Amino acid sequence: MSSLPTTVRDPELPGRVEIYEVGPRDGLQNESAVIPVEVKAEFLDRLADAGLRTLEATSFVHPKWVPQLADAADLLARLERRDGLDYPVLTPNERGLDRAIEAGCDHVAVFASATETFAKRNLNRTLDEQFAMFEPTVTRAVREGLRVRAYVSMVFGDPWEGGVDPDQAAAVGARLMEMGCDQLSLGDTIGVATPAHVGAVLDACDARGVGIDRIAVHFHDTYGQALANTLAALRRGVTTVDASAGGLGGCPYAGSATGNLATEDLVWMLDGLGISHGVDLRALVGTSTWMAGHLGRPSPSRVVTALAQDS
Ligand code: HMG
Ligand code: MG
Repeated sequence: MSSLPTTVRDPELPGRVEIYEVGPRDGLQNESAVIPVEVKAEFLDRLADAGLRTLEATSFVHPKWVPQLADAADLLARLERRDGLDYPVLTPNERGLDRAIEAGCDHVAVFASATETFAKRNLNRTLDEQFAMFEPTVTRAVREGLRVRAYVSMVFGDPWEGGVDPDQAAAVGARLMEMGCDQLSLGDTIGVATPAHVGAVLDACDARGVGIDRIAVHFHDTYGQALANTLAALRRGVTTVDASAGGLGGCPYAGSATGNLATEDLVWMLDGLGISHGVDLRALVGTSTWMAGHLGRPSPSRVVTALAQDS
């Protein structure tokens, strides 16, 4: 008999959640093996077939910094652009934006650091200098009619600097939103957040003028807290959650980062809570199992593991 959670609705929680799938970007940027571009294209098509509508496809970063995603333009040219599908991409600077526009993208993301050390390691910029890189990128993207997401990394802690003041992270996010970004994704790059800490950061964002309706959460599952943190965010009214099919992920410039919250683990919890999301869990598990075959190792997702045995 196949397993499904029993649905028990919690009236305190939102009725619908938008899943922002980051596996093809956050997942594959961290793989030591370079995945062939046709496999990446099939991965994205399968994720779309499973019902995901926002699929962060790749990054237009420096190809020497992230060789795994050097095929970004080639990948986008292969994607079937179906109605209602959104393929955001990462663009750290104007050069990345030029490449994204040339590839036909209409949704991009800049990614800032809440800490000095990670700004240097991930972007080759100081904390202040990163804004000089993002400002013209965001301004031009908005002027040309693109949507721009803002990420902030190391919001909940940094492996080199330790704890991060919630207001410091919120200030970085607010500055990006003031440039014209439409959504702020709070990144727990190394997975150290815990639920009340999530609330403290949301309060700090609110105090800086970034309300809950413009916030997304981006949890990595290094210490097994991603789902608990997500539930805490949902309780506060967040309705966009980043997740990665099969739990792929990490950041090549943050050694201790492991996979994102697995999309399957999120979907299982949302199903149990009666929150709609539009994803077919079986099809998604099939896709992650197929991708695990290409990567040569099983998915770390508990739900993928359980349902793969179940079928
Ligand atoms: P840089 O070396 O300082 O670049 O790198 P630069 O501005 O000095 O330019 C040097 C050369 O690179 C120039 O070429 C540029 O044209 C070229 P030259 O004139 O010497 O021939 N260049 C580019 N080429 C192609 N595409 C570009 C590009 N930019 C410059 N976009 C840079 C600065 C930001 C580019 C570099 O540090 C970089 O690419 N970093 C990206 C690192 C990255 O992708 N990290 C992972 C994503 S972040 C993440 O995973 C966290 C997240 O998931 C949230 C969370 O979990 O917290 C989002
Ligand atoms: Mg990430």
